[in-house]
Amino acid sequence: MLEVLVTFVFTVLIVFTVLFWLKVLFLVLLVVLIFPGVYAMVKGAPFVPSMDKAIRAMIELGKFKKTDRVVDIGCGDGKVIRRIAKEGVKEAIGYELSIPTFLLARFRTFLSGGKEKICFGNFWHQDLARYDVIVCFLLIEAMTNFEKDVWPKLKKGTRVISNSFKLKHVKITEEKDGVYLYIKK
Ligand SMILES: C[S@@+](CC[C@H](N)C(=O)[O-])C[C@H]1O[C@@H](n2cnc3c(N)ncnc32)[C@H](O)[C@@H]1O
Repeated sequence: MLEVLVTFVFTVLIVFTVLFWLKVLFLVLLVVLIFPGVYAMVKGAPFVPSMDKAIRAMIELGKFKKTDRVVDIGCGDGKVIRRIAKEGVKEAIGYELSIPTFLLARFRTFLSGGKEKICFGNFWHQDLARYDVIVCFLLIEAMTNFEKDVWPKLKKGTRVISNSFKLKHVKITEEKDGVYLYIKK
């Protein structure tokens, strides 16, 4: 009788311990999954895809060439960089920090068979000076940081195409439908 009781108590203890650690594991996974996206949302911009009209303006202002290396900093679901890749550019890369959005972008690229490359990562940690065109749709704070930290390092002739948000102290080269083109002098 005592053996049955001891076995029962041990079984209950083991089940509760396993359940407790499963909950901890679940919470840790949730934080790991969500944290980069929350950081990107606060420090860069939440995921809001560019409207078709804005994408058309980006394509028109970009005047993309076969030799262009293009990056979308915060590519969301990859809608913009996918469209740019179709212009036949040399490289079309999108960086995305939110894990669910990154997975969505990868899935859409897989479905469409596009030649754009979707990378998981923080674009602030990339060498953005290697690109000929930088595309973005980021909030004011991120644009301010871009102007301060990235713009001075860009090579002459680099085009920056921003949807909706302007650089404060750089002269706009061209504007169309709320999309701004800047060319580094
Ligand atoms: C407004 S959406 C723009 C999406 C896409 N570029 C477009 O125009 O449709 C901004 C995206 O940037 C991403 N983002 C913000 N900060 C980032 C960072 N530091 N590194 C990578 N992605 C970032 C957000 O997760 C979000 O998906």
